Amino acid sequence: MIKNDFDYETKNNHLMIGGVDSVELAHKYGTPLVVYDVSKIREQISHFKSVFEDNHVDYEVSYASKAFASVATYQIMKQENCHIDVVSGGEIYTALKAGFPMDKVSFHGNNKSAEELKMAVENHVGVIMLDNFHEIELLSKILNDLDTQTNVMLRITPGISAHTHEYDQTGQVDSKFGFDVESKQAEKALEIVLNNPRMNMLGIHAHIGSQIFEVNGFVMAAEKLVDLSADWHQKFGYQPEVLNVGGGFGIKYSEEDDPIAPEKFVDAIVKAIKQRSNQKGLNLPAIWIEPGRSIIGPAGYNLYTIGSRKDVPEIKSYITVDGGMGDNIRPALYQAKYEAVLANKANDEPESNAVRIAGKYCESGDILIQNINLPHIEPGDVLAMFATGAYGYAMASNYNLNLKPAVVFVENGQDKLVIKRQSYEDLVRLDLEY
Ligand SMILES: Cc1ncc(COP(=O)(O)O)c(C=O)c1O
Repeated sequence: MIKNDFDYETKNNHLMIGGVDSVELAHKYGTPLVVYDVSKIREQISHFKSVFEDNHVDYEVSYASKAFASVATYQIMKQENCHIDVVSGGEIYTALKAGFPMDKVSFHGNNKSAEELKMAVENHVGVIMLDNFHEIELLSKILNDLDTQTNVMLRITPGISAHTHEYDQTGQVDSKFGFDVESKQAEKALEIVLNNPRMNMLGIHAHIGSQIFEVNGFVMAAEKLVDLSADWHQKFGYQPEVLNVGGGFGIKYSEEDDPIAPEKFVDAIVKAIKQRSNQKGLNLPAIWIEPGRSIIGPAGYNLYTIGSRKDVPEIKSYITVDGGMGDNIRPALYQAKYEAVLANKANDEPESNAVRIAGKYCESGDILIQNINLPHIEPGDVLAMFATGAYGYAMASNYNLNLKPAVVFVENGQDKLVIKRQSYEDLVRLDLEY
């Protein structure tokens, strides 16, 4: 076991993932390859659950499946007795294919189509997270047409901006998501929902952003949800059964990140809700969380094979891998930083000159790692990037008509292909002649 910013196991100088030799995985399945260590996923879920149980509160851990949705992921969540949240008809469809229990599904989104809402209602999705007035109208019509009812929650924007990358902020007032509290949009939405006998108003939801490292924003949002509950209780006699505080717990991607353990955010949130509810004389609601990144991110590894090299004299060496922004767009999109090792030289000493890891896509911005010190690099070496499990494969594209990679789950020394690599035939399957 080597100790550095990431703990990783090695055997015969090779990186081991979940008890499996990563270099053998690269040879068996080809690269680029996305590998998940399933035990890490299960462990993080269990850490979250322990916090709630230690604090004696009703809860649900709802995996935000946008971080990585697949049949196999949903099957793991079913085994772990988690809820999931979905944001599209495609995610609902995939969860159905996985045999995921629909009553444990929350349906999010700021522009759910009528078809998607109908699909959710017909399949008895557990709760629809209402995001705007247009959606309330659409849903009301669908419920009338189908002569049925559903659970709903109101997504509110609590007016809290977490200190993180601008694109990752969703809780501040100037946001495309949810009902604003300040201007009383949320209150107006509540009145509409309470007057609709087909909608059962289960609770209130807020998600303040993503990859957040500070506890403060979460505590403030949690208190705001309780204050709003108290206000609504006084005005309408309504008290939410559930407060859903969203996800966004930050994880470590590089040596610059020093987050607290994800469950510590949850502990602070739970304690804040308990205390505030007590102060306000409210019953303690059930507390739901929606972590995506913190459940799936650290469990993922991207494996690439090293190809060409370009040495720009006295400036930089570019080392190119066989993937890039098509399988992980986060560096190009958010300037996200990652760490990596040479999987086949995992214990070798790094060279003193840093190199830049470039992708193979036709964009100058397709750089996976700006600066990294690696051992002596040769073509054919396998590069393993850490913590790529969230919003990596999930945002994969066919840019340049490259194929989307395969995905493998490993656990207890066993590997299992869970998403096949695309074929060239897949690329043109929907194309028609002109
Ligand atoms: C409503 C909602 N819940 C949960 C999440 C998951 O966030 P994270 O993956 O950072 O935990 C998101 C992410 O954007 C979200 O929009």
